[in-house]
Amino acid sequence: MNRPKALDLFACEGGATVGYQRAGYDVYAVDMDHSRLKRNPAEHKLVGDALKVLDDLYVMGRVFFDDGSSLELTDIDLIHMSPPCQAFTRGNAGRETSWPKLIEPCREKAAMLDLPYVIENVKDAGPEMVDPVGLCGCMFGLSTIDTDGVRIHLQRLRLFETNWNLQPPRPCDHSTHEWVAGAYGGARRDKYEAKYVRKGGYVPREKAVVKRLLGIEHDVTWNGAFECIPPAYAEWVGLNARVQLIKEAA
Ligand SMILES: C[S@@+](CC[C@H](N)C(=O)[O-])C[C@H]1O[C@@H](n2cnc3c(N)ncnc32)[C@H](O)[C@@H]1O
Ligand SMILES: [Zn+2]
Repeated sequence: MNRPKALDLFACEGGATVGYQRAGYDVYAVDMDHSRLKRNPAEHKLVGDALKVLDDLYVMGRVFFDDGSSLELTDIDLIHMSPPCQAFTRGNAGRETSWPKLIEPCREKAAMLDLPYVIENVKDAGPEMVDPVGLCGCMFGLSTIDTDGVRIHLQRLRLFETNWNLQPPRPCDHSTHEWVAGAYGGARRDKYEAKYVRKGGYVPREKAVVKRLLGIEHDVTWNGAFECIPPAYAEWVGLNARVQLIKEAA
């Protein structure tokens, strides 16, 4: 049987890609930044503008990837989009910034293709999203042991808008989380709390610990880790989409 195909737009170093692969998809990954995409373990990759890919699919019905393969619109089972979150992240939310706001154009272009889609973004982008569902590390039991032997739990809420019915595996519950960690870039990581206080903004010192926390095994940069969704989230989304796609086909 042919594996289902996921088009992963804004794919970066592949947090979502790996999740869709674990859910059994062949992944076609697109990112405009070659230095990010080269670490992405997708089966097929294209360095380019994600919005143009959506336009090409609409106009021509297919997109060519850098390995020479082509992806037909009619063969795509799921479109995942993780447009840059910097316009919405804490400190920038509600302010005019130079970061483009791509959620709305993504939705408009994907809707024209009449395929199941997913738009993923940070909590502060919530007002831009339509009925998003939140997924968090606690729902997947994501945790690891820090360098000094203390167990740390991942709290990383991400919102998912879909044009099909996605539900979280369980409610967010941090009542058993004594020590918490995340993976945040920029100034937060230089702050005292981010370095030493295992609460909200704490980022482990070693990349290997951060990768274990996120459930990532392939080679990623610090920035790749800061920007990714944990693969378990995309695996959940991908498996749920498959169940619904199979139901729809029956
Ligand atoms: C938040 S990251 C995506 C993270 C990814 N979903 C993961 O789980 O690893 C956003 C990515 O969008 C890329 N990007 C920004 N604008 C783009 C565009 N117009 N077309 C393609 N990629 C773009 C950036 O290079 C960056 O890698
Ligand atoms: Zn949670």
